[in-house]
Amino acid sequence: MPIIAIDGPAASGKGTLARKLARHLDYAYLDTGALYRAVGLLVARAGGDADNEQDAVLAAQQLAEADLAKITSDPEMKSESTGGLASKVAAIPAVRALLLDFQHQFAASPPGGKAGAVLDGRDIGTVVCPEAEVKLFITASVETRAKRRFMEQYGEGGSDEQYLAILRDLIRRDERDTQRATAPLKAAKNAHLLDTTNSDIEAVFEMAVTLISDRMTIA
Ligand code: DC
Repeated sequence: MPIIAIDGPAASGKGTLARKLARHLDYAYLDTGALYRAVGLLVARAGGDADNEQDAVLAAQQLAEADLAKITSDPEMKSESTGGLASKVAAIPAVRALLLDFQHQFAASPPGGKAGAVLDGRDIGTVVCPEAEVKLFITASVETRAKRRFMEQYGEGGSDEQYLAILRDLIRRDERDTQRATAPLKAAKNAHLLDTTNSDIEAVFEMAVTLISDRMTIA
């Protein structure tokens, strides 16, 4: 099954790019960050601690029976605080192991009878789908990423303090995601690096389509 693996840090633009590519290729799309966010939210809602292995594993097990569509439509899913919870549960190897099966199944038989899949996350090209046809690693400076999150959240009306709080959260999250022992955020050796600091999404999309069509003769 043809797979496009897209990895990168928070707010790098990988989700927007992945969705656009999936639509363009008519492939299924899986936002793997949403799985970790859902586990983080389930832990918080149960009054648990996202750093606690027992609490996080229980939530990951519950996710299999939970209504994923309902959880993912929760407005709290997209917040930076849920991103922080997700990053904490994601550092626990047993949680990653529980979520791996779902991701493998999705890649092996994409829902809706689609002919391929686009997955985005932190470890798609390195751990989840090391055999992916095309691997993209999307980056941008942390200040650019913080500015994007800030504009999404507060628009023109936000304050310097709010920007700095987001910047601090992203720096902390990058550190946790890159330093953890299991499946840390890093580019696969054969990934194409795309820096979105000074490029808009259209330009990055065009670059990605060219890379994919060079490799797969379908785009
Ligand atoms: O992409 P995102 O911001 O929704 O991801 C939230 C957190 O989930 C991220 O900080 C780390 C974790 N994550 C992960 O460890 N592995 C993935 N494949 C996807 C997300």
